[in-house]
Amino acid sequence: MKNFLTTADFTRAGLEELLQDAFHFKWGVSADQPLAGKSVGLVFFNPSLRTRASMQVGIYELGGHAVVLEPGGTSWTLEHRDGVVMDGNKTEHLAEFVRVLERYTAAIGVRTFAELKDWETERTDPVLSAFARYSSKPVINLESAMHHPCQALADMMTIREKYGKDRKKVLLTWAWHPKPLPMAVPNSFALAAAQFGHDLRIARPKGYELDDELMAEIEKQAAAEGGSVEIVDDVRDAYDGVDVVYAKSWGGRQFYGAPEKDVAFRADLRADWIVDEAKMARTNDAVFMHCLPVRRNVIVTDGVIDSPNSLVIDEAENRLHVQKAIMARLLGEIAES
Ligand code: CP
Repeated sequence: MKNFLTTADFTRAGLEELLQDAFHFKWGVSADQPLAGKSVGLVFFNPSLRTRASMQVGIYELGGHAVVLEPGGTSWTLEHRDGVVMDGNKTEHLAEFVRVLERYTAAIGVRTFAELKDWETERTDPVLSAFARYSSKPVINLESAMHHPCQALADMMTIREKYGKDRKKVLLTWAWHPKPLPMAVPNSFALAAAQFGHDLRIARPKGYELDDELMAEIEKQAAAEGGSVEIVDDVRDAYDGVDVVYAKSWGGRQFYGAPEKDVAFRADLRADWIVDEAKMARTNDAVFMHCLPVRRNVIVTDGVIDSPNSLVIDEAENRLHVQKAIMARLLGEIAES
């Protein structure tokens, strides 16, 4: 295990090992400090509460030290493209940034969102890929344009915690939001749900399809694990009988570079695409999940997020435990079986 970039790089068995380690950290079975005397670089191109705090706390609890850098804020602005003439506003190239940072650190975590400007480029995760290319130390994806694997693993841990190992009917539903958002969370949640063998239903309006290649991978993983994938574009029947409702908003890939067109396209979707008590009543007493941050009474009503079925705070806590498991494995302190 060199890097942790997407759960697609891992077998079900490998992901199960990470979950098991995460539970051991959560339950206090493992109090190992595999990062004693080591530092981990955390590079944040974007704001964060959960990812930043849970990584810093996790590194501390594993005995290590976090070096947090914010390009354009507490460190230089960064260029990632090869062969460019750097006569614009970027001061340092990742070729130097990464190879310097790895001389000080045992691993590097990177948070870099989609810019929602150029779908065909961003779907290849160019910034994260450059970190992985230049680093000889492990790289952890703390959310990129296409994936948020730490979030997805915490989500799978949260479902496991609630329901055990049973296969569940899991609804990933698009939700209205005033502006287009990246697809990393829905991409990684759908992929991980398939890898863990759940029956996945994706509800989204026409125009908000996930990436075709990713969907093919999700279908393949679901088939291999005995699960299923269903796509619906009518929200009215989407909630029937499901055990998990996972809400997230994302932008339409055809609108990358033209956010005002996405905003106009989604104007009529606001009333229907919110998670509310009436929709939750059609489920199998489902739990509600969201990665956070969430806009209350836009994505989800107060009544749903404040209900006993809401797992959003547990999900956020589980980020800490899965990331400790990932770091411990990456640094070779827990043997892979
Ligand atoms: N879910 C998540 O990644 O939260 P932050 O953006 O606050 O890190």
